[in-house]
Amino acid sequence: MSFRTLDDLGDVTGKVALVRVDLNLPMQDGTVTDNTRVRAAAPTILELADKGAKVLLLAHFGRPKGERVSTQSLSMVVGAVQDVLGREVMFVPEIAGDVVRQSIGILRPGDIAILENTRFWKGEEANDPDLVKAIAANADFYVNDAFSAAHRAHATTEGLAHVLPAYAGRSMQAELEALEKALGNPERPVAAVVGGAKVSSKLDVLTHLVGQVDHLIIGGGMANTFLAARGVDVGKSLCEHDLAATVNAIMDAADKAGCTVHLPYEVVVSKEFAANPASLRTSNVHEVAADEMILDVGPMSVEALGDVLKTCRTLVWNGPLGAFEIEPFDAATVALARTAAALTREGSLVSVAGGGDTVAALNHAGVAGDFTYISTAGGAFLEWMEGRELPGVAALEV
Ligand code: 3PG
Repeated sequence: MSFRTLDDLGDVTGKVALVRVDLNLPMQDGTVTDNTRVRAAAPTILELADKGAKVLLLAHFGRPKGERVSTQSLSMVVGAVQDVLGREVMFVPEIAGDVVRQSIGILRPGDIAILENTRFWKGEEANDPDLVKAIAANADFYVNDAFSAAHRAHATTEGLAHVLPAYAGRSMQAELEALEKALGNPERPVAAVVGGAKVSSKLDVLTHLVGQVDHLIIGGGMANTFLAARGVDVGKSLCEHDLAATVNAIMDAADKAGCTVHLPYEVVVSKEFAANPASLRTSNVHEVAADEMILDVGPMSVEALGDVLKTCRTLVWNGPLGAFEIEPFDAATVALARTAAALTREGSLVSVAGGGDTVAALNHAGVAGDFTYISTAGGAFLEWMEGRELPGVAALEV
């Protein structure tokens, strides 16, 4: 796809830029606990400010469903944004109309303001053309730097792109370029790692990927569902037994498409889900006892998966291989992540990972910095892995 970037902007001195960012930040007791999304948007905001634009940030915060909810006012994140940008940021308690117009009058070229939570207005989620028009009326151009909200066809993620000159911000641009390299036009062979607790939450991802990748590596609780569908007794493991037919259909589709599905043949099991339990042992998948749970992929299986990655040129990763938040069930995820990181450093693998749990797991493995690209998007990354068109991205297409 092709889209305009900030490189395509002419002189923006004194012009009003509406910049859609993702400020849906995790908060505890009124304090932002993770400013990753602000850091992601900072290059775009600072570039526009340094070029002399008046920068108005648009974002949602939580799901207030068209009502003003004081605990979900974006005024709560102004401090965190100022800290990251190292600049003063004005707060404007509206997104359209006279208050915004007057605020723009006060701003000097290069100044930055955050407008109120867009979801305080019902027209945001409804993508109401009247709201789109009212927001656009105060601005000269629109920049979307919120890939993680691009799966929503809302007024400020999609609608504005149709009524103002629209550009992808730097973070959106980096994300789209990385995703294109990973699944759009990848170097083959391509491997995908899909982990996490439930097959049911990633059915569309799996169905899409078997037609796109050469190797599909299944981990986490979802591997148990695959094993059970193949007739393996998984004991007390987390498992969606009712999905056996669905899983077998996915395996058949994979066979037809020439995609090899890799399931663990050796696993780490325990009778209790606790850190370093006494009942911990490694087992062949066919020897799991009725009172045991599979909690991770075993070391020999991980090594075999590492060998698969060594034959590949591209990797897409979503979801951990085991119950990585509790030791030692983080071992397989950490080991395979390190192999992927080493191959990426050597230049033999393009590695793209995404999703909340995945980012946490790769950070835990200490390799997030070595991957080619890590997406911090949750729902949007999954929808991209499902092969869906993201409305916020499609609207930027030229
Ligand atoms: C997110 O936090 O993943 C994005 O900001 C989207 O939020 P939403 O799921 O409430 O639309």
